[in-house]
Amino acid sequence: MNELILKSTQLKKRYGDFEAVKGIDFEIGRGQVFSLLGPNGAGKSTTISMLSCLLKPSDGDALIDGHSVVNNPNGVKSVIGYVPQDLALYDKLTAKHNLKFWGTMAGMGGPDLTKRIDELLERVELTDRASERVETFSGGMKRRLNIAVGLLHKPKLVFMDEPTVGIDPQSRRRILDMVKELRDEGMSVLYTTHYMEEAEELSDFVGIIDHGSMIAQGTQAELRRTVGEQDTLRLHFDESAPTAALSEKIGQLEFVTTATANESEIVVTVPEAAAVLPELMSVTAEENQRVRSIDIEEPNLEAVFLHLTGRALRE
Ligand SMILES: Nc1ncnc2c1ncn2[C@@H]1O[C@H](COP(=O)(O)OP(=O)(O)OP(=O)(O)O)[C@@H](O)[C@H]1O
Ligand SMILES: [Mg+2]
Repeated sequence: MNELILKSTQLKKRYGDFEAVKGIDFEIGRGQVFSLLGPNGAGKSTTISMLSCLLKPSDGDALIDGHSVVNNPNGVKSVIGYVPQDLALYDKLTAKHNLKFWGTMAGMGGPDLTKRIDELLERVELTDRASERVETFSGGMKRRLNIAVGLLHKPKLVFMDEPTVGIDPQSRRRILDMVKELRDEGMSVLYTTHYMEEAEELSDFVGIIDHGSMIAQGTQAELRRTVGEQDTLRLHFDESAPTAALSEKIGQLEFVTTATANESEIVVTVPEAAAVLPELMSVTAEENQRVRSIDIEEPNLEAVFLHLTGRALRE
């Protein structure tokens, strides 16, 4: 058995002259969570739609569990689950009837389907609302039911397209925990988001997508290394502005990469914040300057995005 559940090769989507997805290469190993992180309009949904065989690629291909999305859409559909960004639920039907409808559409039926529906309602914590119409549900409950639909036929790989946008914290928590549970059970997940914290919590691998291109990918540690893996310390001072003499002294300390003073703070970059803190405090005391507080920022995916694009992920 191939250890990859997905391999995308130069996958591309053109709308007229506009290239929404510009030839994307990436792989997902079995039992891994791969997050596609990118801002609005980056091409996340277009990529997922092509991988789910809902949209024909203009060029390139992807193999999913060995099936080509171009040549064997039925093979692909049998192994994937798709949780769309836009809800695919019938408001007038109950939660249970929605699942029954989608299960029947997927060729399931009988006691197997009934059992699977009960399992999934339990999993998304909607058992007590199973017989109520979806129109009475909150946004978070609808999102959870939408995920249950995508999991009905026990896919090997599930695509979740921004499943937590605009919902309550409890639903969000349940969804993130569920992604981790599914992974622990051996399922592979492709998760799109523009929330850096979600990508950080969930991912074995992260792909950063912007303007239709995958501008970086790797483990979180690999991506952080692209920004040099430096911690940033911000020293805030009482009353007086920090002096140039102090920032110069800090700049000469062992391990410190840079130290820059501005009106109210000194910004220090260093490979490992903890290693310089004691020295930093003693130099500051020698110069008779009182530090009010210190912020320590470790490099995160937001910093990686900023480094690569010059823009913040959420603008
Ligand atoms: N049918 C279409 N015709 C023309 N352009 C399209 C079409 N569908 C999407 N696009 C464009 O392709 C680009 C990528 O869109 P896509 O929906 O994949 O982005 P996204 O990363 O999912 O964004 P969001 O975070 O807002 O969901 C956007 O510029 C969008 O306007
Ligand atoms: Mg989208």
